[in-house]
Amino acid sequence: MHIITTVQEMQQIAGELRASGKKVGFVPTMGYLHEGHLTLLRQAKKENDIVMLSIFVNPLQFGPNEDLDRYPRDIERDERLAREVEVDYLFYPSVEEMYPTDRTTNVEVVKRTDVLCGKQRPGHFAGVVTVLMKLFNITMPNRAYFGMKDAQQVAVIEGFVDDYNIPVTIVPVEIVREEDGLARSSRNIYLSERERQEAPHLYKSLCMAKERIVKGERNPKNITSFIKEYIETNTHGVVDYADLYAYPNLTEVEKISGRMIIAIAVKFENARLIDNITLTVE
Ligand code: PAF
Repeated sequence: MHIITTVQEMQQIAGELRASGKKVGFVPTMGYLHEGHLTLLRQAKKENDIVMLSIFVNPLQFGPNEDLDRYPRDIERDERLAREVEVDYLFYPSVEEMYPTDRTTNVEVVKRTDVLCGKQRPGHFAGVVTVLMKLFNITMPNRAYFGMKDAQQVAVIEGFVDDYNIPVTIVPVEIVREEDGLARSSRNIYLSERERQEAPHLYKSLCMAKERIVKGERNPKNITSFIKEYIETNTHGVVDYADLYAYPNLTEVEKISGRMIIAIAVKFENARLIDNITLTVE
């Protein structure tokens, strides 16, 4: 695995790979790799000749109340894991390398952000697409892989790539789950034993909601109030949101039809868990 820390060297290698016709799969991350990232990297390995991983904790996507300095970092462990899944290039720039001067421009996001988790994080997605504009120009990948655990991020990135005609195929990758259905997350370790036993009810509520839709329910409010009530009856968690939107536009619908997302966020004592399913209704 080659470790590259400068924009110039990474861009030169990426240009040579493009010219040679090799297909490059890219997985952008902020490091502290977990099973979700490794799943993206394994899929990128299967579908491309070369796999690039970036590790960069992007200050632009942190709000004033979100502690950038406390973001977990462990580059040695990340390097070991990246080698295990046979990453070819690890791009690991410093903040000064990525943002050497005061910025003149930032990419703005005008839709898909004022709902779900984005509602509580103004400016977050502008930071995400601004760094991706840079990372895509530096690594020049054919495909870029993102987990559907953060389905809102995928929706924003798909819109961004379309808007700017960026020649990268966005590959959304399904949520990785434990055997009992709980979506894998580094936050699951903060659940108490009792909460951990209750947590699979989150995914169960989404599956039951889907079943209701399959059986003919078309009123979004009936679906979201069913989920809220189910979770609050079967767990000690408090539902932050349980929403149903058209996907990927993330607009409200009066009647369930077309491609939809049902997304939830639930607060337990020391962890806030998110989960979602997407489905298409003819
Ligand atoms: O999902 C993340 O880890 C980040 O938002 C991303 C896409 C790497 C941009 O910094």
